[in-house]
Amino acid sequence: MKASDSEAKATGAVRSGRSVHIAGIGSFAPERVLTNQELEKMVDTTDEWITTRSGIKERRIAAEGQATSDLALEAARAALADAGLGPKDVDLIVVATASPDMLFPSTACQLQHKLGAGNVPAFDLSAACSGFIYGLEVGRQFVASGAHETVLVVGADKLSSITDWTDRATCVLFGDAAGAAVLRHEPGRRGILSTLLGADGSQKEILNVPAGGSAMPASEQTVRERMHCIRMSGREVFKIAVNAMLRAAREAVARSGLSLEEISWVIPHQANMRIIEAISDRLGLGMEKFQVNLQQYGNTSAASIPVAFDEAVKKGRIKRGDNVLLVAFGGGLTWGSAVIEW
Ligand code: ACO
Repeated sequence: MKASDSEAKATGAVRSGRSVHIAGIGSFAPERVLTNQELEKMVDTTDEWITTRSGIKERRIAAEGQATSDLALEAARAALADAGLGPKDVDLIVVATASPDMLFPSTACQLQHKLGAGNVPAFDLSAACSGFIYGLEVGRQFVASGAHETVLVVGADKLSSITDWTDRATCVLFGDAAGAAVLRHEPGRRGILSTLLGADGSQKEILNVPAGGSAMPASEQTVRERMHCIRMSGREVFKIAVNAMLRAAREAVARSGLSLEEISWVIPHQANMRIIEAISDRLGLGMEKFQVNLQQYGNTSAASIPVAFDEAVKKGRIKRGDNVLLVAFGGGLTWGSAVIEW
């Protein structure tokens, strides 16, 4: 990954158009809690290993028959209620997910129907754990340009449906959840100050779901070999994630015109406590500024940032006028960051 090249070309500096802010935010996690102790009975692992290597204590698992669009629906309803709006106010739906209900139609179309949003455009976006920030930037563009007034952006993943429950190196890390934001323009509110998106498509071997697409359609063999599940070289992803997130965080702050000291809160992708601590340390921003909830949810991919964001807002930690830095990293490889004046 060449930092200078990719960042020079990276999209998303907020330069023109109307300001866009998050008018409502909401999240949802399924009821069923899967603890580290339960995992000890499923694979050769220990609570101690999972806790010290990742920080995760438990995660939520969707019920049978509960699809990604069902998680997205609950988060979307919560975000709309928070904005004081109804489904018919939405005029574009973007769902970021790596675990769609099916290959097509899109999860966004399922959500549109379940929500009763009418025949508004709806599409999915694939950027794995960076999906919510990609969605935020896509939605922002539509509002900034004036093409749409109210855009619903959802990050939703049911990673339990693509987890290899016999692979101890990955199955202890993931969980299911959804988070949603309603984007609008409001005169006088600055909202999203800057964004940055980036990707490196040369690294697909270290994090992927190999089968089920056109490159390797489903077969008896792919099912037998669990190739429809997430495969990850954790150690390699870890190293790249720390550096990419650091660069993305610094660049989004620089583009916002703020200094790092003016950042009130950081909401990082919730993959691993050690990644978050490394970023805190190298940015020189204390851990008290970081919103962390991976202990309870594990890595929920595209849902992780909006769920943590929603919790911080609902707990009253994030207050009007606070500057919030979002930063994510995921399969693709992809990364993204944003600075928002709340
Ligand atoms: N229980 C016990 N031992 C285990 C487990 C487990 N659950 N999993 C792996 N081990 C063993 C390994 O076999 C290895 O043993 P060995 O030394 O005898 O070979 C040892 O523990 C160390 O394994 P590592 O993989 O090197 O452990 P590491 O310290 O790197 O932690 C982890 C692994 C938690 C996966 C970490 O690398 C990580 O968080 N990586 C980044 C993940 C990430 O950010 N993903 C991005 C987004 S995910 C997405 O887009 C869907």
